[in-house]
Amino acid sequence: MAEETVAVGLMGLGTVGGGVVRLLAANQEKIRQKLGVAVEISKILVRDPSKPRQVEVARGLLAVDPADILEDDRIAVVVELMGGLHPAREYISRALARGKSVVTANKDVLAVYGPELYALAGEHRVDLLFEASVGGGIPVIHPIREGLAGNRLYEVMGVVNGTTNFILTRMSAGGQDFHAALAEAQALGYAEADPRADVGGDDAARKIAILASIAFDTIVTYDDVYVEGITGVTPADIAYGNELGYTLKLLAIARQVEGEVEARVHPAFLPQGHPLAAVNDVFNAIFVRGDAVGQTMFYGPGAGQMPTASAVVGDIVEAVANIRHGSCSRISYPGADRRPIRPMGDVRCKYYLRLTVQDQPGVLARIAGVFGDHGVSLASVIQKKTVDGLAELVLVTHEVKEEDFRRALSVIAGLPVVRRIENAIRVEEEWQ
Ligand code: NAP
Ligand code: HSE
Repeated sequence: MAEETVAVGLMGLGTVGGGVVRLLAANQEKIRQKLGVAVEISKILVRDPSKPRQVEVARGLLAVDPADILEDDRIAVVVELMGGLHPAREYISRALARGKSVVTANKDVLAVYGPELYALAGEHRVDLLFEASVGGGIPVIHPIREGLAGNRLYEVMGVVNGTTNFILTRMSAGGQDFHAALAEAQALGYAEADPRADVGGDDAARKIAILASIAFDTIVTYDDVYVEGITGVTPADIAYGNELGYTLKLLAIARQVEGEVEARVHPAFLPQGHPLAAVNDVFNAIFVRGDAVGQTMFYGPGAGQMPTASAVVGDIVEAVANIRHGSCSRISYPGADRRPIRPMGDVRCKYYLRLTVQDQPGVLARIAGVFGDHGVSLASVIQKKTVDGLAELVLVTHEVKEEDFRRALSVIAGLPVVRRIENAIRVEEEWQ
């Protein structure tokens, strides 16, 4: 290897790893000119070296022993693209402790072990860069950490999972069913190795934990986030919501409210005019509000090989530049203080509710009475259809406290005139 070369060790050669190899090769000269040194992949860790690969790499580059990267002092930057908690946590820790900068796309490991990994990076004065962990190819971590550093940020709300947004877009457009849309997202390389993390909301929860931590400069972990996925969403609810002027999205929301941090992921109806309502297919967008900047939104492809590789290579370039100029770890990591997490029962929002009831006089009055007893006021009630003596009702509440709504709903579910609670979906209107 030539003297003016920085050696990179890649851990993982799957969808994203393959994209990184391609992108570094395609832009080798441009990157060398930008940095004044060449960047070269000197080892690639995989599980199975005999597996057919989408990208061509010299057989001698492949390794199965992590020590070939972690204990090689010529390797200055480790790029972790294996995914999962273990052994990613251990390999990243070992790399940082040995004075190597680390680039990762792994939101799972950051959302759980972020605090210890940030501390290690700070302690050893190396970089831990993770732009690709949220929003795929969208630059959002750097803008929040650096470009918006002059603000007190108080809201981060986004469509941060490409797979579920792809599925919801297909279901909303009428036509494709859930399973066919998921299979297509998997074939396109958007989904996690276990797609339950996408459709169950966990992937988005990990991302909002990372975003909340850096935006609010506190520690928010995956366990702090309330999570509901999209498996309960039906085409009927999407269609009724559209009639009411709403679009359904899987939203990840983090806010600073009265000294507490609110962090949640769930399907939500947004007014059709909201900027996030227009984010479709695999695209993601992150809407950020700060006291000085007002509203900003970061938009782009949220998953996929080359968009994610774009973010990873950007981080590799930064890591190498920082090593060259002795400026690693120049911005502190979150962790100085840990603000309390607001219990979900205290969160306030509007609700859409669909239920099947007996079609007889006085039913609506009884339901409205229960809501009234729990301090829940109704904004609208529509009777959608009546079949065999049963009526389908769609109600929208005014803003309520979550625990009041839930208590009222459990009483309503027990009323003899109520056949079924079909669905309850939160509605996110403009928040001040
Ligand atoms: P992937 O296609 O499943 O690739 C994983 C790679 O890591 C494979 O090459 C695998 O080796 C290797 N690997 C896994 N466990 C290993 C172990 N214990 N030891 C050695 N090698 C190991 O995953 P991916 O889609 O590229 O995702 C990689 C990371 O990027 C994940 O953290 C993911 O959440 C994140 N991410 C993905 C996307 C996306 O659109 N796909 C977007 C943003 C972030 P073998 O090939 O030998 O099996
Ligand atoms: N499975 C993730 C998604 C990949 O669909 O958004 C990008 O993090």
